[in-house]
Amino acid sequence: MSTAAIVPAAGSGVRLGADRPKALVLLAGEPLVVHALRALRDSEVVDRVVIAGPPDRLDELSAALPSAWSGWAQVIAGGAVRQASVAAGLESLSGDHELVLVHDAARALVPPAVVIRVVDALLAGAPAVIPVLPVSDTVKRLRDARVLETVDRTSLYAVQTPQGFRRDVLAEAHATTTESEATDDAGLVERAGGEVCVVDGAAEAFKITGPLDLALAEAVLSSRRH
Ligand code: CTP
Ligand code: MG
Repeated sequence: MSTAAIVPAAGSGVRLGADRPKALVLLAGEPLVVHALRALRDSEVVDRVVIAGPPDRLDELSAALPSAWSGWAQVIAGGAVRQASVAAGLESLSGDHELVLVHDAARALVPPAVVIRVVDALLAGAPAVIPVLPVSDTVKRLRDARVLETVDRTSLYAVQTPQGFRRDVLAEAHATTTESEATDDAGLVERAGGEVCVVDGAAEAFKITGPLDLALAEAVLSSRRH
C-alpha cells in the first residue's frame, strides 16, 4: 500500500512571534518544516509528501528543501485555516495512495518511530490512528475564572501528529464536516461516527507553539547530536 503525507505548514505563527511564518523559522540553521519532513523521510514509510505552505512564501519554501527530495516532496498553497490547508493537500494528491498521514510542520522533531507506529496500525487495518501521550498536569474545569471541578486525569490524553487515515476515511470526513476550524483531523472522523485507534506518541513530538518550545527544540537537537 502506498502512503502519502500532507504537511500543513501555512500558519503564521502568531504565538511564536518570529519575523516569518512558523514553518520557515530556523532551528539549528534549517526551517522547522525541513526538520518535520526529515522525520517523515527517515521513517522510510512515506512515499510522497505534499506541503501546504504560506501562499506568499512558496518559492522560498521550495528553495529550502534539499534537491534530493524533489521527486518526493511537493509544495502547494495552504489555506486560511489549518483544515483548509489539509483539504488543499488532499485535493492535490494523485490517486495512487491508499493511506494518508497528516503531520504538522510545527511538530518538527517527531521521532521516525512514531511515524512507523502510525503506519503499522493502518496496515494492520485501523481506519484512523492518532499518537497520544498521557496528560501529566492536573487539569481543572473553570467557568468565569472559578474552579468547577478537577477532571479525572487518568482518562485524558494529549494528541499528537502524524495522524494516519485510510484515504477514503479522511476524504469522507473532510467532505461531510460542517465545521471549518478543527485543530485535528481525527476529530472530524470521530464526529462522522468513525473509529479512531491510538498508538504511543513521544515527548519529542511536542508542538512548537511559543518561544520556550523553540528553545526546547534546540536542546533536543543538540542532545541528539551528542
Ligand atoms: N496551519 C496551516 N494553515 C493554517 C494554519 C495553520 O497549515 N492556515 C498549520 C501550521 O503551519 C502548523 C499546524 O497547522 O504546522 C498547527 O498549527 P499551529 O501550531 O497553530 O501553527 P500556527 O497557526 O502557525 O501558529 P499560531 O496559531 O500561533 O498563529
Ligand atoms: Mg494556529
